[in-house]
Amino acid sequence: MCGIMGYAGRNNAIPVITHGLSNLEYRGYDSAGIAIFKDGQIMITKKAGRLADLVKAIGEPPAANLGIGHTRWATHGVPSDVNAHPHADCSGRIAIVHNGIIENYAALRKELILEGHDFISDTDTEVVAHLVEKFYADSLENAVRKALNYIEGSFALAVISQEEPDKIIAAKKDSPLIVGLGAGENYIASDIPAILGKTDKVYILDDYEFVVVTAEGVTITDFSGNLINKEIFNVTWDPISAEKAGYEHFMLKEIHEQPDAIRQTLRGKIKDGLVDFSEQGLDELFDDVKKIYMVACGTAYHAGLVGRLAIEKIARLPVETDIASEFRYRDVLWSPGDLMIVISQSGETADTLAVLREAQRNGVKVLAVTNVVGSSIAREADKVLYTYAGPEIAVASTKAYSTQLVIMYLLALYLAKKRKTYDQKTLAGLGKELLDMDVMTEKVLQEEEKIKRLAGKYQNVESTFFLGRGLDYAVAMEGALKLKEISYIHAEAYAAGELKHGPLALIDTGVPVLALISQDALAAKSMSNIKEVKARGAVVVAVCKENLQEVCQECDEQILLPDVNPLLAPIVSVIPLQMFAYYMAIFRGADVDKPRNLAKSVTVE
Ligand code: AGP
Repeated sequence: MCGIMGYAGRNNAIPVITHGLSNLEYRGYDSAGIAIFKDGQIMITKKAGRLADLVKAIGEPPAANLGIGHTRWATHGVPSDVNAHPHADCSGRIAIVHNGIIENYAALRKELILEGHDFISDTDTEVVAHLVEKFYADSLENAVRKALNYIEGSFALAVISQEEPDKIIAAKKDSPLIVGLGAGENYIASDIPAILGKTDKVYILDDYEFVVVTAEGVTITDFSGNLINKEIFNVTWDPISAEKAGYEHFMLKEIHEQPDAIRQTLRGKIKDGLVDFSEQGLDELFDDVKKIYMVACGTAYHAGLVGRLAIEKIARLPVETDIASEFRYRDVLWSPGDLMIVISQSGETADTLAVLREAQRNGVKVLAVTNVVGSSIAREADKVLYTYAGPEIAVASTKAYSTQLVIMYLLALYLAKKRKTYDQKTLAGLGKELLDMDVMTEKVLQEEEKIKRLAGKYQNVESTFFLGRGLDYAVAMEGALKLKEISYIHAEAYAAGELKHGPLALIDTGVPVLALISQDALAAKSMSNIKEVKARGAVVVAVCKENLQEVCQECDEQILLPDVNPLLAPIVSVIPLQMFAYYMAIFRGADVDKPRNLAKSVTVE
């Protein structure tokens, strides 16, 4: 996720753009850049680091009445000066900023190089600058329209050209883009926070819409050039709530961003239902693998527990999943064919990084699953699979977890295909079901009001149990962590079958138990666990697939999940638990986004 901004008007463009970008840093902040016209030429200033570093590099802003800017969350190419946006064509007469993922950038880049174009960055975005150059004859608008015919993926683009210094061309597909309307000045931006205080009148663009922005006016068409009349949206948000897109906290915003984060992470990875990691070059890593160690901390560890069950079940490969801070004391008996997978949203967790280094010291290859391009873990791993969750601001991880699950399932399907443990038709069916998980998560998000009511009802409890079997147990652990870390209520996840071996003694009248029931084959056993705790006075809230409702007849409350494949159920079953924890914390007045004692990235051991 990145932030783009453009301005055309009577004021100096640079301070307008850098101010707008400062309100978009929540979308990404590993590098930033700006392009303006100076002495009739395009001048690009761009730097790795925060926006403040860019402002310092610009110094006294030269006079310019039109420009485009960008604050980056790297997806392709580490954060660096050369990979920062804007990107230019060979001649430097065209500049572009982009938010999204150009899925077919590798093929386009190869073709453009053969046609004589020189690339200087490792980004996907740079191909668009050279495509526009390729098609540029006498109109930037026409050149961009032609280029869009060749681009696959998601994009919000803004393009300027030295030949036409009075206009910004922009286009949108699958990444957000708005147009701000002023008097004698107009704006283009990823999101409303960028233009707050400048104008309260915006067009919110839809997919396949194309805009020509000048100081005097804005023309909106479809990609073919047919005029589109749009309604003006009047903005009433204050700047802070705008960064949260109107949500009260980043955590709630990020819970709701999960469908899109899942979409972005899946993008380009499944072709005809089958997983394709050719671009990530994973084949040689897995050619001789005989056992996988999966190591992480906290929420990432819980994602690894799901990964273990999924890979063992469909790829029939032994997997051990362990907590990083414990793994280091195991004196592991490494064997040929061992592979280490480390999972880390931040890519900076010290315990996880230490395990990566220990594995490599023992000659074991490491695959990293991380959300941050250029992070320490990404840089030191042998190979990397990125989640595309975008920046996760809230300390409590939500969308990073669900995108880590997506990577786990992609790996399981990829390994099953490679090891031929399942026929391709079955795997393709699973792949297609995985592609539908964005829609399934959107369905679960509609349960929000009911979950909020439940949280209100139980807000004063002192302790809570989360129960589940198999994959449900792995998700129960994540639910318990979410509740603990933001509401400060003691919460314990237990394997449902293990309760009677001791912890059942803790169940008493009124103790809330959240029972996950998404594994059809285990439903009957889950029912007996519910009876066990009900008989001791527990209040049972079932998070239950709609086709298993009869199991939950005796429950006090039911939160229903869509009837998805049990293997993929964790992607949907975690959402009610995230929401429950969020609202419990709200009702208890906790600082949801910044819970006490915690940090977003634990870079100490
Ligand atoms: C999760 O909500 C917590 N913030 C914490 O457990 C986190 O998952 C853990 O510290 C691992 O962080 P990482 O994914 O950045 O390595």
